[in-house]
Amino acid sequence: MKIIVGITGGIAAYKAPELVRLLVKAGHEVRCAATGHAMQFVTRVTLETVSQHPLYSDLFASGGTEHISLKDWGDLLLVAPATANIIGKVASGIADDALSTLLLAFSGKPVIMAPAMNCEMWAHPAVQRNIATLKSWGIRMVGPAEGELACGVSGVGRMAEPETIAAEVENISTSNFQLSTQKWLVTAGPTFERIDSVRFIGNYSSGKMGFALAEALAEQGADVELVTGPTHLDVSNTRHINIHRVESAREMYAAATELFPQCRGAILSAAVADYRPAECANHKLKKNGSEGMHLDLVQNPDILATLGSMKQEGQTLVGFALETDNEEANAQRKLEKKNLDYIVLNSLRDKGAGFGVDTNKVTILSRDGHRTESPLLSKHEIAQLIIQTTT
Ligand code: PMT
Repeated sequence: MKIIVGITGGIAAYKAPELVRLLVKAGHEVRCAATGHAMQFVTRVTLETVSQHPLYSDLFASGGTEHISLKDWGDLLLVAPATANIIGKVASGIADDALSTLLLAFSGKPVIMAPAMNCEMWAHPAVQRNIATLKSWGIRMVGPAEGELACGVSGVGRMAEPETIAAEVENISTSNFQLSTQKWLVTAGPTFERIDSVRFIGNYSSGKMGFALAEALAEQGADVELVTGPTHLDVSNTRHINIHRVESAREMYAAATELFPQCRGAILSAAVADYRPAECANHKLKKNGSEGMHLDLVQNPDILATLGSMKQEGQTLVGFALETDNEEANAQRKLEKKNLDYIVLNSLRDKGAGFGVDTNKVTILSRDGHRTESPLLSKHEIAQLIIQTTT
């Protein structure tokens, strides 16, 4: 990988040459970009020697465009140490030197930061707010670690060790960002089908499985169109996940069928109501004095089957199945009937799997007869397994 190591002005900058050395030793090509403050702690000669490339530290040195050529060159930008200052600048969109300008220009590719600062600074609400902002844009944080700080106190604020940071880079280069040029559609949550102005037919889906899928796809660099039924959940990676909130099956159908043609694939985990009331009263229905009440239902469109009929060469379609009996046979039937490439079966018989909980246990069946069974895992881990198996 081509890695740009950004160095900012904290005492931990003295560890940056060791980090660069580890990355070069692991086979990466490295270039360094440093702020003026960083140069108080580490020299140009050291960084140029370990990286074997000229250091980028002056915004105007080669006509003021080097941040553009460097951002085109790099596959990954790693800032270590990342001071409260650079974190705040990026969160606020400030570009007033070589590194901050490069950071703003470096879009669509992975950025890792290794924060390092005094523990009181790290705990400050402004820093924590900025960290949350950067994380929501998909920037990964390694550390900070807890321990003795340069200012003589102990607490959270030490830069993670160079070996830990280099290991995080390896994680990314081997498993992540493989979907960085792809867009995926995910459906999540329940649908609500209105009976009258205050009541609806719904189900127990919380949206957790679908949101985990969207986050896991985004972690791999994909852009995600997440169409979700009513849920209180939100996404943390707002940079890569575009959220469309809908209420009913027909609204979900409209959004999904419009978005699918631009997508490399779709994973439909929503629990869509198969039927809706034939009519929705625009007032609260009153008791009518009789013992029972009759509600006419009509069928909703089948989103998964429609996407199956729209599917083009090169698109992958993954459905879910929630079964209570003849589980695998029913899932297999859905796989074939709806023209899917994979179906993810979760059974209500498995304790800790299905609606509402944070865990799931699934069997993934493929069109070509492969079968992958998972143990009980967190929904995030299940999402990673589904993506690993189907993309
Ligand atoms: O949201 P959570 O609380 O985390 O729970 C997750 C989950 C249990 C809802 C999820 O893991 C799951 O199983 N989702 C599918 C539930 C379901 O509706 O299964 P089904 O067998 O009825 O539907 C089969 C497939 O067709 C599903 O991919 C469903 O999204 C799709 N479908 C169904 C009906 C319809 N009208 N349109 C559809 O697209």
